[in-house]
Amino acid sequence: MATLFKNIKELIQVRTEPIQFVSGSDMKHLPTIKNAYLLVENGLISDFGTMKSCPKTNVEKIIDATGKMILPSWCDSHTHIVYAGNREGEFVDRINGLSYEEIANRGGGILNSAKKLQETSEEGLYQQSKIRLEEIMLLGTGAVEIKSGYGLTVDAELKMLRVIKRLKENYPIEIKATFLGAHAVPSTYKNNKQGYLQMLVDEIMPKITEEKLAEFVDIFCETGYFSVDDTELILKAGKKYGLIPKIHVNQFTAIGGVQIGVKYNALSVDHLEEMRDEDIEILKNTTTMPVALPSCSYFLSIPYTPARKMIDAGLPLALATDYNPGSTPSGNMNFVISTACIKMKMTPEEAINAATINGAYAMGLEDKVGSITVGKQANLLLTKPINSYGFLPYSFGTNQLEKVYLKGKEVNFNREL
Ligand code: NIG
Ligand code: FE
Repeated sequence: MATLFKNIKELIQVRTEPIQFVSGSDMKHLPTIKNAYLLVENGLISDFGTMKSCPKTNVEKIIDATGKMILPSWCDSHTHIVYAGNREGEFVDRINGLSYEEIANRGGGILNSAKKLQETSEEGLYQQSKIRLEEIMLLGTGAVEIKSGYGLTVDAELKMLRVIKRLKENYPIEIKATFLGAHAVPSTYKNNKQGYLQMLVDEIMPKITEEKLAEFVDIFCETGYFSVDDTELILKAGKKYGLIPKIHVNQFTAIGGVQIGVKYNALSVDHLEEMRDEDIEILKNTTTMPVALPSCSYFLSIPYTPARKMIDAGLPLALATDYNPGSTPSGNMNFVISTACIKMKMTPEEAINAATINGAYAMGLEDKVGSITVGKQANLLLTKPINSYGFLPYSFGTNQLEKVYLKGKEVNFNREL
């Protein structure tokens, strides 16, 4: 089955030579082709170029994109979309003056979500989570990482991971699973954090390898949650089980977690709202992708990741949503990109690079998605008629996408957003 998109006003993020990610001043460069065509065959990008060289081949389907642009779908490398219930009560508590930390100390926060999840059946959890997955697909996400971490018991963590696996089997979107058992210490281990960590390593990690339930391991390295030593323990154990590290780090305090991430070749270090000069320095010339989560900063009213300082120092940066019930109840990558431009002073080119190819790298998918490259999945966003791609972040809060295609097929769940 072949589809030809023709008269594309501008084809964005065109990479003829495959690249892994873009860093520093290269992030300002977003290659495009004006007045372009794009050919899709068997779900993959098979050819593209200017309309002048558009092939006259017989294709089953021709889509005229006059006035519209096409770009690769968003790559959201950090989410927690498998969860039960919501926490709008805590949202109101925060409006009334309580901090995220104070709410957590009262038994709210992650432990509140864990309680809800433990009480929900695997089927119920799947049903709740698939609504969010469909929602983000309609909003243009074509590859997503999903974490466990609201189970905090052997059964509940495995339940989360099995739900992720089932989502992966049933939807065309690329999904990567991360084991985040070390998200918070559950009340049953209140005074025994080491015992909890040991349980994650001895009881859950072997099951994960056995059932192939995750590729990555993550930990919330933060004051009051898990220390740098705990992080080292989990990353080391994860490596033994073939789990590649990613870390939640420097969200509220900078305690040296970035250094541990780099030491263990973490694929990504995420959050980074609090960055010291030495944290920026250590990330230079490494294979670890820094990931910023601007809608988390927006929702919690905490500082934004210092993107300008980091990119100007030569680092790469990826953007992701952090979609979760506590700190970011939104999976809208379009909003993330707008917020990165408006609040973090990233240019539209930098933000689009960060949300496509760099996001793909942050989940090990840079060979499959994240750019318009022959052989990659035809995961495409067709915009409404717009004047320039800068209009996407500029018109924040409005959906400028007319259609979303995953593996060449239009995403349509017979429902509106
Ligand atoms: O990435 N910071 C740790 N974990 C999540 C929030 C968890 C929650 O509040 O439920 C985050 O922000
Ligand atoms: Fe997170």
